Amino acid sequence: MSFVPAGVLLRAAQKGGYAVGAFNCSNMEIMQAIVRAARLENAPVIIQVSQGAIKYAGLDYLVAMAKVAVREASVPAALHLDHGTEIDVVLACLKAGFSSVMFDGSKLPLEENIALTRQVVKAAREAGASVEAELGRIGGTEDEVSVEDKEAFFTDPEEARYFVERTGVDALAVAVGTAHGRYKGEPKLDLERLARIAGLVGIPLVLHGASGVPGGAVQEAIKRGVRKINIDTDIRQRFVDTIRRRLDEEPAEIDPRKILGPAREAAVEVVREKIRLFGSSKRAGQGNPVK
Ligand code: G3H
Ligand code: 13P
Ligand code: ZN
Repeated sequence: MSFVPAGVLLRAAQKGGYAVGAFNCSNMEIMQAIVRAARLENAPVIIQVSQGAIKYAGLDYLVAMAKVAVREASVPAALHLDHGTEIDVVLACLKAGFSSVMFDGSKLPLEENIALTRQVVKAAREAGASVEAELGRIGGTEDEVSVEDKEAFFTDPEEARYFVERTGVDALAVAVGTAHGRYKGEPKLDLERLARIAGLVGIPLVLHGASGVPGGAVQEAIKRGVRKINIDTDIRQRFVDTIRRRLDEEPAEIDPRKILGPAREAAVEVVREKIRLFGSSKRAGQGNPVK
């Protein structure tokens, strides 16, 4: 059992009209929670780690943990680099066995983003992995880089078509009104723009910053071609809220397992809720190979 290219999972989702959850993690408990939830839901899943996660936990630790987790869960799973901005990190991930990488050149001028994304696509093809790219800017806090809300701008549909034609990427992250982290008000998605982009590019679209987006809006986005949905903040929030509660309940507790165990269970529940919302429950066997 090894990792399946995310592109394979997303193409199956395209056929089935649902989206695959891509969940961020940088520690063992959340990694276990993600695959446990996928197993309980019999769902394909994307485990994703950011450059910050790699800095925190170490690349080899993350790959080793993901391998064990996926082997035990026996569901189709991809190991994906989230928001790779450094070519060296992208190449190191491919070498370490990631089945998918995101190259995020969204802050670069268009032609530079295209040139570097093409380089990543070539390396990923050689490694048998798939590639996600980003066009337009998704506001909020990205891996080690803050983008002010006012700087964020939406993806241009025609530019997206040109970008996908030139790069041959498997999936495209689009800026249509979501932002990373906690929302202050309710996010409003530009669904019309999303539908136009999907019609022009013909490949699976990726919704970043999906924590805190109302369920109805998420489902409308799926109807319009979103096939990968990134969730980090909602897991972090529930995980840390549970830790805080446990520490309040048992101020004298010094066994980390008694604190982190319930937090891990809380994370399983969040991931299960998302998987059901995305429509990927019971999809593990449908066009999704378990290697
Ligand atoms: O989009 C960014 C993800 O939430 C990862 O965040 O860079 O703090 O690991 P991070
Ligand atoms: P949230 O933290 O807002 O869920 O965003 C996650 C994300 O887009 C990771 O790339
Ligand atoms: Zn993101």
